[in-house]
Amino acid sequence: MTAPAAGVLRFGVLGCADIARRRVLPAMAAAPDIELAAVASRSPARAAETARAHGARPVSGYERLLADPDVDALYIPLPAALHAVWVEAALEAGKHVLAEKPLTTDPARTRALLERARRRKLVLRENVMFVHHGQHRAVGAMVGDGVIGELRSLHAAFTIPSPADGDIRFDADLGGGALSDVGLYPVRAAVHLLGPGLRVAGAVLRDTAGRGVETSGAALLRRADGVSAQLTFGMDDAYRSRYELWGSEGRITVDRAFTPPAGHRPRIVVEDAAGARTVELAAEDQVAATLAAFTAAVRGGDTVPAGGELRDLLAQADLLAAIRRAAAA
Ligand SMILES: NC(=O)c1ccc[n+]([C@@H]2O[C@H](COP(=O)([O-])OP(=O)(O)OC[C@H]3O[C@@H](n4cnc5c(N)ncnc54)[C@H](OP(=O)(O)O)[C@@H]3O)[C@@H](O)[C@H]2O)c1
Repeated sequence: MTAPAAGVLRFGVLGCADIARRRVLPAMAAAPDIELAAVASRSPARAAETARAHGARPVSGYERLLADPDVDALYIPLPAALHAVWVEAALEAGKHVLAEKPLTTDPARTRALLERARRRKLVLRENVMFVHHGQHRAVGAMVGDGVIGELRSLHAAFTIPSPADGDIRFDADLGGGALSDVGLYPVRAAVHLLGPGLRVAGAVLRDTAGRGVETSGAALLRRADGVSAQLTFGMDDAYRSRYELWGSEGRITVDRAFTPPAGHRPRIVVEDAAGARTVELAAEDQVAATLAAFTAAVRGGDTVPAGGELRDLLAQADLLAAIRRAAAA
């Protein structure tokens, strides 16, 4: 076995997930300070095929990868209900962890894992990538500059067409359902853009397709000062990935808000009494930015996210649980 180049983080991957193969593994392979060292699968053939595509080592079974001394960090894109147990095992094995969203399906478990990472002096991050895209900072600055007057409300939606039969999103035991899969995005947008103190005022979860899990839903959140967030999510719908911020004097619209491809040039639309104008921004690769933030955290020994990011992660977990409770009430 070869020693890693100085400053290079050797990643292993648990499971040949679609999101790993489509977005994250190519970005890891392209990152200057990451070596995609190994890919594990329950299926040796799938491990071999996926690993080969990136010049990585195939590993048969997840436990073996956990025990691999030539891996520093693990990326865990397993079904949501399996995140907690494998994140915990990875931390116990002494690996830094980048876990797919949602980090867990239970806020108490999320807090316990973050505490464990802190104690073990290991980095733990949840892979919510859109917050690393600069377009949301640009929007935040516009709101702060009073471009739309006094902020009144956020309207955010993430909806996708129905996944194929047999998809993990339709399996309740694997943590399926639209709320934590797609609803997480508008919830995080609310937390990210409106800040702390959001409460659930009402929520609906529906199984529009008779799948045994919620396939769509909506939530109304409110801040103590009355600013509201109307959130829509679904996985039996036409595609939508956008938010609008409405103010006393205008409105800002961001399309392709949550999963823009690397080459997408954001076009932020600002509308007010004078008409509509478009602010064009440079393309950014939010997957590469997320990985860069992770490697920087490892270099800096920042085991859990710092202040605002940690507050957002926990608020997101609490709100997802509160939306489920409100919808059941
Ligand atoms: N951050 C993002 O932008 C983003 C986007 C999409 C999805 N995600 C998240 O990524 C995770 C995976 O989503 P995905 O759509 O990529 O899923 P997927 O293609 O179904 O992959 C899940 C992987 O988990 C492994 N696995 C282990 N036990 C399993 C079981 N009992 N049933 C099914 N698979 C099992 C499988 O790998 P092996 O068979 O190779 O072991 C499978 O390839 C989810 O948490 C999802 O929320 C994040």
